[in-house]
Amino acid sequence: MKTMHVVRFILILCCVSSFSYADTMNISTLLQEMTAIKQDEVLFKRTLDEGYERAVLCVHCHGEDGNSKRDRIPNLASQNSQYLFIQFEHFANGIRKDYVMSKLASGLTAQDRLAVALYFSEQTVKPRDQAINVSESGARLYMSNCIACHGKEGHGSAQYPRIAGQPYAFLEMTLLRFMNADEQRQNSPMTSVVKHMSAEQLKEVAAFITNMP
Ligand code: HEC
Ligand code: HEC
Repeated sequence: MKTMHVVRFILILCCVSSFSYADTMNISTLLQEMTAIKQDEVLFKRTLDEGYERAVLCVHCHGEDGNSKRDRIPNLASQNSQYLFIQFEHFANGIRKDYVMSKLASGLTAQDRLAVALYFSEQTVKPRDQAINVSESGARLYMSNCIACHGKEGHGSAQYPRIAGQPYAFLEMTLLRFMNADEQRQNSPMTSVVKHMSAEQLKEVAAFITNMP
């Protein structure tokens, strides 16, 4: 997988801009398809194998087991598959912007995106080695502002992403983007959630979340 992945990674970066986002199937149809795949044991296994193959394009940054290699890159392991899949739509349609992810999202077929989302979702997130201190107010802020959607444990649900255990730098960067209504993450319900919070409070809550198992 290793040598292949370097070659294919370079290939995708060079060529992907010539692909077009040609999948016309809408997102809810595709999410229904994802549910159907999960319910069929044989098909599910086959799709995970396909996802493993496609993951060759991702492991350089997100890790072979979905535990990210760098602090500004999110873990994909244990994330809910629906959320992972929807983020591809967001990168492809410009609601969310990232140089590499936006190109990748437009280059993969719908089947590829379903398969990698399922593959990474089935991996297990591992705690990171980070020396980040948690304050009491970080915990309080989480309990009063975040559990309604992300849950007491930060594990999310089919509708909301898991945030527990994401790298601190990713969380801080993301929350500040929401606060500043940054064009890299537009149209997010998070914008109104964090608008009454200060940058300091967002850092405290990020420190709490990154330490959640
Ligand atoms: C060159 C590094 C790189 C590669 C290769 C890469 N990613 Fe990413 N990915 C990122 C970064 C950086 C972000 C965070 C972007 C942001 O929010 O600014 C990200 C975000 C994501 C997200 C959103 C996750 C979340 O919690 O918000 C998903 C899903 C994702 N990547 C899937 C993939 C998949 C699947 C592949 C392979 C097909 C892939 N990525 C390849 C760097 C990469
Ligand atoms: C009203 C529901 C709601 C509340 C309350 C909420 N969130 Fe969110 N959050 C969402 C949704 C929906 C998303 C995904 C949409 C998006 O990426 O724009 C999200 C995304 C995120 C992300 C990005 C995850 C990723 O992997 O890209 C972070 C980090 C986050 N929330 C942290 C928080 C924190 C911290 C709080 C409390 C201060 C909070 N959220 C409160 C709904 C909520």
